[in-house]
Order: sequence, then C-alpha cells, then structure tokens
Amino acid sequence: MSTVGLSPVLTEFWDHPQSWTMDTYLDHGGYEGLKKALTMDPAAIVQEVKDSGLRGRGGAGFPTGMKWGFLPPDDGGPRYLVVNADESEPGTCKDIPLMMATPQFLIEGVIITSFAIGCRHAFIYVRGEVVHVYRRLLKAVEEAYDRGFLGDNILGSGYSLDVTVHAGAGAYICGEETALLDSLEGRRGQPRLKPPFPAVAGLYARPTVVNNVESVASVPQIIARGASWFTSLGTEKSAGHGLFSLSGHVERPGQYEAPLGITLRELLDMAGGIRGGRQLKFWTPGGSSTPIFTADHLDTPLDYESVGAAGSMLGTRALQIFDDTTSVVRAVTRWTEFYAHESCGKCTPCREGTYWLKQVLRRIEAGQGTQGDIEKLLDLCDNILGRAFCALGDGATSCITSAIQYFRDEFEAGMHTPAWELFPPERSALF
Ligand code: NAI
Repeated sequence: MSTVGLSPVLTEFWDHPQSWTMDTYLDHGGYEGLKKALTMDPAAIVQEVKDSGLRGRGGAGFPTGMKWGFLPPDDGGPRYLVVNADESEPGTCKDIPLMMATPQFLIEGVIITSFAIGCRHAFIYVRGEVVHVYRRLLKAVEEAYDRGFLGDNILGSGYSLDVTVHAGAGAYICGEETALLDSLEGRRGQPRLKPPFPAVAGLYARPTVVNNVESVASVPQIIARGASWFTSLGTEKSAGHGLFSLSGHVERPGQYEAPLGITLRELLDMAGGIRGGRQLKFWTPGGSSTPIFTADHLDTPLDYESVGAAGSMLGTRALQIFDDTTSVVRAVTRWTEFYAHESCGKCTPCREGTYWLKQVLRRIEAGQGTQGDIEKLLDLCDNILGRAFCALGDGATSCITSAIQYFRDEFEAGMHTPAWELFPPERSALF
C-alpha cells in the first residue's frame, strides 16, 4: 500500500499490526462520522454525499448520492442497503484488502448510509471464495454490536440497524447487482431485466440501494470532513481519491491510494517502474472489462472523463501492467476464457458469443488462425456489444476489439505462428 500526493485516508493505518480491530479504528478517529451523521437530518446526509461528487467505486461510476436519491418516498415498509462485496473483476483487488485491513470503515459507512436512506437491515454480500474476508467481516460486525454501533438504539439516537454478512458461492455474475439480489434471495444468481432498477424494486422487491464496498467505506470521511474536503481532491467531475490496484509486470505491485486524475506514469514512479526496467506494452485502466491502453496512454489522467475520451473506462481502477515479453493474443485469450466460463447462460449473445470468441482466439493463439478470423472476432463482438442482458457480455468484447485496434499484426501472425513461439514462455512471467 502506498499513497501519492495525498494524506492516506482509507489506507491510513493498513500497516498497523492490528489494523482491523475496533480499538485501532477508534484510535484513528473512527466513528466520528457516524456521531456527526446521527445529529443530522437523513436528507442532509444524502445531500452531503451528492455534493461530494462521490461516484460508484464498483466500476460504473454512477453518482452515489443520486442513487440514494432515487429511492421512492418512505411508505413505512422495509428498504434495504446491500453492499456489493463480490469483487471478482480480473485484476481488481481493492475491496478485499480494504475489508481485511480496515473493515470498520465499511461498517461505519453501512450505518451512515442506512441511516440516510431509512434502512433497518443491511446486507454485505461477499464472494464465496474469500472465507478469510467473510470471517473478518463477521468479527467486525460483532465488535460493532458489542460497542453499541449496531443493534437497537444506536448510541442512544433511537435509530436501530441490523447487519447480515452473506457469503456467495463463487460466481462472477453475482457481482452484477440484480444477479446478486437473486442470489441473496436464495435463487440462482442471474441478472434481472432493468428497469425497474433496484432503487425501486430490489431485494424482496423493495426499494434497495446496492453500493460497492469502497463507495460505502468512503462515506464516513465525507461526513466527518465535509463534501468540500472531498471535492478538493481529484478533478472537477471525478472528485475524491480512490484505490488504484497495480498488478502484473511492475516492481512493486499493490494498492496505491491517490486522487482521481493521477496518471499511470506517476503511479509507476511509486511502484518502482516496469519489472527489470523493461518496456510497457499494454495495460488495463479499469480491469479486463475495459478496453486496453498502450504506452501512448501513460499520461492520460485516470479520471472518468479523460479515460473515456481516450477510448476506455476507468472501471475498477485495476491497472494490470504487461511488458514487452507478453503476447497480447495470449492475454486476451485468457480473459475470454474467463468470460466464457463465467457467462451465466441466460442470454444468447453472451452465452454463445463468448464460447465462439474463445474458440477463434484459441486457434489464433495456436498459430492456426484462418483467413477472416480477425473479422470474425470483430463481427462476434459487434453482435454481443449492446445486445447482452448485462454488462458481462459488453465487458468480454472490450479487450478483444481494443487489442485488435492496437496490435492487429500479432493477431495476423496467429495465422501461421503460435503465440508461444513469438513470445516464449520462459521470457514471460505471465504464462
Ligand atoms: P450501470 O451503469 O448499469 O449501473 C450503475 C448503477 O447505477 C447501478 O447500481 C444501477 O442500478 C444504477 N442506475 C443506473 N441508472 C439508473 C436509473 N435510471 N435509476 C436508478 N438507478 C440507476 O452499471 P452496472 O451494470 O451496475 O456495472 C457495470 C460496471 O461494473 C462495469 O463498467 C465494470 O467496470 C464494473 N464491474 C465491476 C466488477 C467488480 O468486481 N468490481 C466486476 C465486473 C464489472
């Protein structure tokens, strides 16, 4: 963990030997945001988060306060907060360390958010494979109940909240918010048709806010320090700070907390550069579901607008770095195998399309591509993009179309030469 041009916020005491305990959190100013929030009108909390410009940190970047504001007026029935802790996007590894290092940031954020939207029962949906995170969250919730931050009459305010931590069963699709809700309700996790959005009909068909872990964990400090503190960080339209996950061919991979708008060049300076002093070949700005970038994008500010204008998406800020020993065809084939495996099968473009993308890519990787295969890939992508039931299908096409855009010659070489001959495995740490 490291920070760039910013006093650490979410990662301030990650290096503390007992960073995850309630005592450590309280020693570092924990729960001051909640104490302040409980004196505020819930509508004023929603307004403060709107004013902060916080945008969803799960990848889509939807304004968090606006999402809260979409809930219909209170009809006396239940309304829910569901935290999406099903982090599974390839390269994305920020929420899991956050929950392991400082789970109380999330719990405090859950309580403030629930108070703001009038929720009495919140859920945290964790991906099934990370049993250690599940256990840590259970312990953190227990500590919060013991100290009077959860349960009946929180800190004497008259407000009561229960939190349930739920472990999924290990399916990428359950990170899609409506598939997550189906899974939480006990059904097979598959996306629902939107609209209605969860804000109107979510968990048990009741108004529901689904927010990412980092989004919710950012709320306590926004309330404690004020919206103007948050807007003083980042850029005008991409406010605040966030976790940037550097992985792959970098000297010091890990989490780097920085204001939005930082560049990869600046982050690489912090991370010791490309491993062994080699050259950067390509990278993902926001996980494998976002179009890849090349060395030409080293100075692109990593904010929603600049990354979008350069042809990609900020996504989850999962910066997977690949040096010049890497075959782009192999990398793209591996990602596509992932999407084909994780496609839930509900809609035809994604189910059939990802299967055929995988087939064509495998033969190009093996040097057995046939004339027209590149056009076939692009045609398949065209038939998936915008036609699939959820974002999984769109995401699966991003790495392929962008890789062909920047490295078409490598795909053409796949008509006669296997990727492993062009890029021998012994020279590449990835394969
Ligand atoms: P989206 O843009 O469809 O929705 C974003 C959020 O805004 C949702 O919560 C949605 O309910 C809400 N929303 C949008 N319009 C609304 C309206 N009119 N009324 C009420 N609510 C509205 O994006 P989606 O499908 O939720 O997420 C896609 C992103 O997820 C991708 O861009 C990718 O970066 C990211 N992703 C993250 C993963 C991870 O592990 N963190 C895994 C896979 C994808």
